[in-house]
Amino acid sequence: FDTVDVIAAKRDGRALSKEQIDWVIDAYTRGAVAEEQMAALAMAIFINDMEPEEIAHWTQAMIDSGERMDFSSLSRPTSDKHSTGGVGDKITLPLAPLVAVFDVAVPQLSGRGLGHTGGTLDKLESIPGWQAGLSNQAIVDQLEDVGAVICAAGTGLAPADKKLYALRDITSTVDCIPLIASSIMSKKIAEGTSGLVLDVKVGSGAFMKDLTKARALAQTMVELGKAAGVKTSALLTDMSTPLGLTVGNALEVRESVEVLAGGGPADVADLTVALAEEMLRLAGKTDVDVRAALNDGRAMDKWKQMIRAQHGDPEAALPVAEHTEVVTATESGVLTQLDALSVGVASWRLGAGRARKEDPVQDVAGIELHAKPGDTVTAGQPLMTLHTATPERFERAIEALDSAVEIGGDAASVPESIVFDTIT
Ligand code: URA
Repeated sequence: FDTVDVIAAKRDGRALSKEQIDWVIDAYTRGAVAEEQMAALAMAIFINDMEPEEIAHWTQAMIDSGERMDFSSLSRPTSDKHSTGGVGDKITLPLAPLVAVFDVAVPQLSGRGLGHTGGTLDKLESIPGWQAGLSNQAIVDQLEDVGAVICAAGTGLAPADKKLYALRDITSTVDCIPLIASSIMSKKIAEGTSGLVLDVKVGSGAFMKDLTKARALAQTMVELGKAAGVKTSALLTDMSTPLGLTVGNALEVRESVEVLAGGGPADVADLTVALAEEMLRLAGKTDVDVRAALNDGRAMDKWKQMIRAQHGDPEAALPVAEHTEVVTATESGVLTQLDALSVGVASWRLGAGRARKEDPVQDVAGIELHAKPGDTVTAGQPLMTLHTATPERFERAIEALDSAVEIGGDAASVPESIVFDTIT
C-alpha cells in the first residue's frame, strides 16, 4: 500500500478497507508512516468520520500493535471501569476496592493527567510511599491476593495508541468519536478484562459537550466491546460541574477516603455505587448491597490492603498546601452555575495538572468547593478555597474562574440524578 493513497481515500470520504487499516497502523507503529502523514490521516478521519466496520478494524489493528494481558488464571471474574475524563473525577479510588469486596477482581490500568482533567495515578502518588509501576505478573498476583489494583498501564498495551494519542493532542484531532472510541477500547480490550463499564461524561468539563454526541460515543464503544467478547455497558453522567467538593491530587484522595468511610459528598458516593452495581451486574452479581460495604468498613479495609500492596501508607497524613486563597460570592442568590471546565483549568494552573507529559505535578495544588449548583449563597460567603505550593500561580488561576460562577434569582436547574442514562 501507499500511504498517500490511504490518506487520499479518507480525504475523499471513502471507507478504508481492513487491509489498508492493518497496514497503516502497523507501518505507523514501526515508524514507516511519518508523523505528518498520520496527522493528515487523523484529520481526514476527523472530518469525514468512519463507518462502524472501519472503526472495528481500526480498533483491532491497534490491539494487534501490542501485547494482550490474560486474567484467565484468576479465581474470580474481572470487571473494570473507564471514564472518558472529567474534573474532580476521583471515582476510581473508592470504586476499585468497593467492587473487590464482592469477590470481583478490578484491574484498573490507569493514566496520568493531561490538560485540565486529572489523572488517577497523579492522585494516588500523593499518598506517601505509593508506587504506580507494577510488572504484569505483579498485577495478576495482586488481583488474586487483594482483588483490586490501580496501576500504570504498561507500555506494551496498544503502542499504536500511545503514538497516535500524542499526535492527536498536538493536531486538534482528539475530539472525534471514531478516534476516541478506538483509542479507549483498544486499551481496554488488550487489558483482558471480562466486564467493562464506561463512564461517558457529558458537559463543559467533558470531551462531549452535549448528550447526543455522548450517547453516540457510548454506543460506539459498547458495540466495539461486545464484538470483542467483553461484556460492556455505559453510563452517561453529568460533567457540567466538578464531581464532589474537591479538585486536585491530595484533596481528591482525602475526599475518596471520606466516601470509603461511608461519608463524602452525595454525588461522589452515588456515582461510585451506581458504577459498582453495574460492574457487579456484568460479573453476574445482582443481589448485593453495595452501599452497606461503604458504611460498614469493608470497602475501607480493602482500600488499605490495596494501598499497602503498592508500598503506600494509608494511615499517613496527606500533604497540605502552604498557600491558600479564598474566592467569595459577589452577590446573594442561588448558585446556578459552577463550570467544570473553568474549575479544571484553574486547578491545573495552580499546579495540579501538567501542560507537557514530562512536567511534574504538585500533590497539594487544587480547589476545594464550598458550594455547588442549587445552593443558596450570600454575598461575601466563601465559594472556593484555592490551594498551591507556589502562590505566584493564584493570579492566573483566578483569571480562569472569571466566568465560572453564575448566581441568579431563580432556582437552578440541577439534574435530579448524576446518571442521565445507561446503555447496554
Ligand atoms: N482517552 C483516551 O484514552 N483516548 C482518547 O482518545 C480520549 C480519551
